[in-house]
Amino acid sequence: MSQRINPIRGMKDFYGLDCSKYQYIVDTATQISARYGYQLIEIPIVENTEIFQRSLGDESDVVSKEMYSFIDKGGENITLRPEGTAGVMRAISSNGIFVNDNQPLKFMYYGPMFRYDRPQKGRYRQFHQIGFEHIGEKSPYTDVLSIALAVDILHEIGLADVCVHVNSLGGFDSRQLYTTELVKYFKKFENELSEDSKRRLLKNPLRILDSKDSRDCEINLNAPKIRNYLNEHDATYFQKVLDLLDLLDINYIVDQKLVRGLDYYTHTTFEFKTNSEQYSDALGGGGRYDGLLEMFGGSDVSGVGFALGVERLMMLIDYKPTVLLKVAIVAVSANEFDSAFMLNKELLDNSISCELITGGNNLKKRVELAVKRGCSLLLIIGNDELKDNSVTLTRVNDKDNRSVTIPRYSVVLRINELSQEFRHSH
Ligand code: HAM
Repeated sequence: MSQRINPIRGMKDFYGLDCSKYQYIVDTATQISARYGYQLIEIPIVENTEIFQRSLGDESDVVSKEMYSFIDKGGENITLRPEGTAGVMRAISSNGIFVNDNQPLKFMYYGPMFRYDRPQKGRYRQFHQIGFEHIGEKSPYTDVLSIALAVDILHEIGLADVCVHVNSLGGFDSRQLYTTELVKYFKKFENELSEDSKRRLLKNPLRILDSKDSRDCEINLNAPKIRNYLNEHDATYFQKVLDLLDLLDINYIVDQKLVRGLDYYTHTTFEFKTNSEQYSDALGGGGRYDGLLEMFGGSDVSGVGFALGVERLMMLIDYKPTVLLKVAIVAVSANEFDSAFMLNKELLDNSISCELITGGNNLKKRVELAVKRGCSLLLIIGNDELKDNSVTLTRVNDKDNRSVTIPRYSVVLRINELSQEFRHSH
């Protein structure tokens, strides 16, 4: 026997219930976001590496450690997308899609993302995101509508105990003032900081606040807080965000260490966490970004967006697929196979889920196969049925072993009635 081949570390196959869960989450998000005015955008999985380097920041973990970058056969440096925001901005610019503050764009996307991270619970090297970008209309209202959309989706899929962690990084001026103060503070502890943080002190001190190193975390406790450095405009903007969250009764906490892992954020940043003991990492996150579209040659409009991690949602939701009445078409002998085959097609054409049982070498075996496949109604065609153009309906697991023979022309109608009864009783 040849050796079993496994997928690449940190990547996994979805099938069966996992696929239904994935589809359910994507469908729910698509429906709810359509109500908010979002439309789907489909962008390539691979982009020029520069797209991500330029926008996510050289010092971000994603760019410095986690990108799947390759030189392709034509000598281009390309990267499997680690996230979707940069690609959406590139697409708006490449396609010359018009956007301004009076004519915003709202895009939703979903699919696989790739980060060469250490695999662990809820963290993979190929994972899936559902992302949303609202470009144009810079205001606390759009920030909170973005958060509200995420909360609606999370609630709808059954995650009722979601808490929004929210912060403001301010605009350019506030940020500069804050960064100067941060550097002054961290300089005092320069020798105690982790190697990563020492490097960040020079290049991007804000990112030290995001460090997972235990000594860095202790030092972070007394670091200056961004809220004290927001100028009046930025402070008023952030206060309005909080007031609107209150108005919508959204459960949130202000988390002043929430700088997020990617460099493009300005003003409001947020993450979604569950209070459940089961999982403490973020289910999703996002925030406002100024200047990102312009970086890709588009117009100077701000945007706000977020992405949800599908594997993390799949892990937490209690999903029960809808049970449909499943029908099996069973021929008694080879003589009736053609007729069974045609009945199967007729039912499929009438949107009925059914399976033609072609295996097994006698009726008993075929019935067993149908039951194994989860069919609860058997349509049996034997010699008699063939002769008088009828079908015998038998319910699986029916104590009274009720069977009824009906004219073939009435089968579709009868199955539709039975499907409704089935739905009501499950
Ligand atoms: P992010 O916080 O890097 O943001 O990722 C969003 C979500 O993707 C995370 O909260 C998490 O649920 C999921 N995720 C990230 N990495 C992994 C992984 N290795 N394995 C499993 N799940 C993961 C972004 O990607 C931004 N583009 C979001 C955004 C959109 N900001 C503005 N617009």
